[in-house]
Amino acid sequence: MKAIYSLILVLALVVLATLGAGAAKMQTIFAYCVPGTAFVIFVVGFVAKVIGWAKRPVPFRIPTTGGQQQTLDWIPQNKWDNPSTGPQTAMRMFLEIVTFRSLFRNTKVLLKHDDGKNPIVAYVSAKWLWLFAILFHYSFLIIVIRHMRLFLQPVPKFILGVEFVDSVLQIYTPIVYQTDLLILAGAGFLLARRLYDAKLRYISLVNDYFPLFLILSIALSGMYMRYIAKVDVMAIKDVVMGLTTFTFKVPKGVDTSFYVHVFLVSTLLAYFPFSKLMHLAGVFLSPTRNLPNDTRMHHHENPWNDPSIKPHSYEAYEDDFREPMFEAGLPLDKNPEEAA
Ligand code: HEM
Repeated sequence: MKAIYSLILVLALVVLATLGAGAAKMQTIFAYCVPGTAFVIFVVGFVAKVIGWAKRPVPFRIPTTGGQQQTLDWIPQNKWDNPSTGPQTAMRMFLEIVTFRSLFRNTKVLLKHDDGKNPIVAYVSAKWLWLFAILFHYSFLIIVIRHMRLFLQPVPKFILGVEFVDSVLQIYTPIVYQTDLLILAGAGFLLARRLYDAKLRYISLVNDYFPLFLILSIALSGMYMRYIAKVDVMAIKDVVMGLTTFTFKVPKGVDTSFYVHVFLVSTLLAYFPFSKLMHLAGVFLSPTRNLPNDTRMHHHENPWNDPSIKPHSYEAYEDDFREPMFEAGLPLDKNPEEAA
C-alpha cells in the first residue's frame, strides 16, 4: 500500500504539471516561480540542517570501526577501516564516499539447515545492493553534470567531454546516453528489492518509496523529452538561462513534458532537506565515520562534566571497599594483605 500511495502521489504531480502548464497555460509559474521557490527551500533547508548537525556536540570518539586498531608496533593496523589519525580518517571518508566501501561489506541473513536438518543462521555476502547503488549514484551525478550545459554559456569543455564519453556507444538517434539506461537499472533495482523482499517491504515507508518513484519519474520524463518528444533544446536553454540570469522570458514553443520534468525536479529539491536523501550531507557529518579511533592515545573528557562530581577510579573504589569485598569473596586486584 505504501508503494501504491507513493506512486499515486508522483502520478498526481505529473497530472498537476500537465494540466497547469499545458491546459491552464501557466507556463511562467511552472518555468520560473515553482523551480525558483523550490531552489530556495532546498538551499535554506540544506544549510539549516547542516548547521543543526554541525552544532551538535560530539564529546566522545564514537567511530564504527572494522579491523585491527592501532596497538603494538608489530601488529599491523588496518588504517582504512580503523584510522587513528586525521589523514587516515580522511582517506577512510574519501573511499567511503567514492566507492561505498561499507556497503560493499553488506551481508544478508539466511536461515539454512545443517545435515541434521537443524536450522542455522547464516550471513552471506550480498554485493548486488552495492553494485546497483553505485550505478544509480554515479549515473545521477553524471546526468546532473551533463545538465550543466543548459545552465552555462559557453558550455565548458569538461561537460562536453562527459557528454562524449557517456554517448560513446552511439546507439539510436538521438544518441542514447549510457547513464540514462544505468539510472533506470539502478533505481529500478533499489525499488524492486523493497517490493520483492518481504523483510524489506515490512520496514519500508512512504518516505522510502516516494523518492525512488520521484527520481524514476524524473529520469523517465527526461528520456521522454529526449528520445520521444524530441523537444527543442535551444528553446529550453533560453528558458533556463532566463532562470539563471533573472530575465524571466515567457517561454514559447516549449513542450509540456519539459514543465512536467522541471516540476518533478522542483518537488525533489523542495523535499530533499526533509528526507532521507540528506545522507548526501550527513555522510560527511557522521561522527561514526569522521572521527579517528584514538581513544588509546588521548583521553577524551566530556567537556560538560559536572566539576563537583569527582571521578572515582576502580582502584580508588577497591581501596574504599576492599575489606567488605574480600569478606564477600569478590575477586580483587589487591587483596588486603597486598594493599597493607
Ligand atoms: C534531479 C535533477 C535531474 C535529473 C535526475 C534529470 C534527468 C534527466 C534525464 C535522465 C534526461 C534524459 C536525457 C539525458 O540524460 O540528458 C533528462 C533530459 C532533460 N532534462 Fe533533466 N534532469 C534533472 C534536472 C533538470 C533540470 C533542472 C532541467 C532544466 C531546468 C532539466 C532539463 C532537461 C532537458 C531540457 C532534457 C532534454 C535534453 C535533451 O533532449 O538532450 N533537467 N533529464
